[in-house]
Formats: sequence, C-alpha cells, structure tokens
Amino acid sequence: FQPKILIGTRVLITAGPTYEAIDAVRGITNRSSGKMGYAIAQAALELGAEVTLISGPTALAKPHGSHGVDVESASQMFDAVMQRATACDVFISVAAVADYRVAQPSEQKIKKSAEALTLNLVPNPDILAHVAGLANPPFCVGFAAESENLAEYAEQKRRAKKLPLLVGNLAQQAIGSDDNELVLFDDQGTHPLPRADKLTLARQLMQQIALRYKGANR
Ligand code: C5P
Repeated sequence: FQPKILIGTRVLITAGPTYEAIDAVRGITNRSSGKMGYAIAQAALELGAEVTLISGPTALAKPHGSHGVDVESASQMFDAVMQRATACDVFISVAAVADYRVAQPSEQKIKKSAEALTLNLVPNPDILAHVAGLANPPFCVGFAAESENLAEYAEQKRRAKKLPLLVGNLAQQAIGSDDNELVLFDDQGTHPLPRADKLTLARQLMQQIALRYKGANR
C-alpha cells in the first residue's frame, strides 16, 4: 500500500531522446529509450500526482492516466515545457536532450556525392536551466548521465543549473537498459539507490522527491 502523498501536485516530466533533423529523412538522436522517465511518470501517478509527460520519440506507451505530449526536437520540447512550466509544482527533467541541432536542416533529401560533408551544429537551449531560472520555479529535479567521474560532474551540474536535487547515473549502465543504479545529490550530500529495475528505482526516487518537495513547501 502506498499513501497518495502527491494528490493535488502537478508533476511535469520530460523523457526519451530528441531527434534533430539533418534533412527530410535523416537526423541526429541518441540511445535513450525513455524507460526511466516513463517509470517515473508511473510512480508519480501511483502517489496521486497529476502527471504531464513530454516525450521525444520512443517505442513506449504512456502510463495510463498521464497527459502525454509528443515532441521530436529539442526546440519543440523547449516550447512544450515552457508553455507548462509555470503551472506545475515539480519538474523532473529526464529527457536526453540533444546538445546540438543542425543549423539549417535541408527540406529535401541531401544527395550523396564523393565529397566530404560538413554539418554545421549549433547548441540547443538548456530546458532545465531555463525552468530552474524562472522567477518562481517549480521544484526542479535534473538527471546526469556520465561515463566517468560521476560524483564530481553531477555535483557541478547541480550547482550550475541551481537544482535542489540531481540524480546521477552511469551512462553505460543506464542508457537503454531495464536496470539502473542511481545516486541522489542534494544540499545534504549523496544518497545511493542500489541497482534495481527502473520502476523500482522510480518509486524510490519519487518518494525522495515527494519528501523534499513537501519539506520545501511546508
Ligand atoms: O548538462 P547535461 O545535458 O548533462 O544535463 C542533463 C540534465 O539537463 C538532464 O536533466 C536533462 O534533461 C537536462 N537538459 C535539458 N536541456 C538540454 C540539455 C539537458 O533540459 N538542452
């Protein structure tokens, strides 16, 4: 039995990869499956929250009872989040947002030639940093997938993006797999969530988020 401690709480979640078009048929993306974000949406629903799930392209079905919003690119995800960010209480940014997009995607399929091809990439806006920087931000939770030096990089990111809570995981363990292992970073220090399937971890993480959100809004 789980007490519904998040009834009346509006939780906004991003999940999955983004897809940045190169031309009419090609694009740049990453190996995020969306599983962790979707599991967190499920866990938030179980606690009674009102959940909006903004998702890049994935093969997953949205958890029953969530409000789903499908996007493709980081720019579309940025717009979808910003439209809803001031009307949510908790923002959990799980999406693996592409850091760059193609400066000028071609409307037509680019024809192959014998020449080398250079793609001009420009940085995407940091959605999470924008939300956390709002005048009256929701309780913001970030993720950091690192392939090394997890503790150091995660804490750096938490400070740079001004987050009360950042969840670290090892990229090689997290991306695409069914299991994961998390470390929570907050002002108090670190808190490990040992290896388990993503729904189990999502439930433990949502408990931690709910405790901190409730504590901060007493
Ligand atoms: O800096 P890095 O991309 O590693 O930070 C990861 C965190 O920031 C994740 O929570 C991710 O969802 C978020 N992010 C974002 N917009 C970006 C890049 C990352 O919201 N353009």
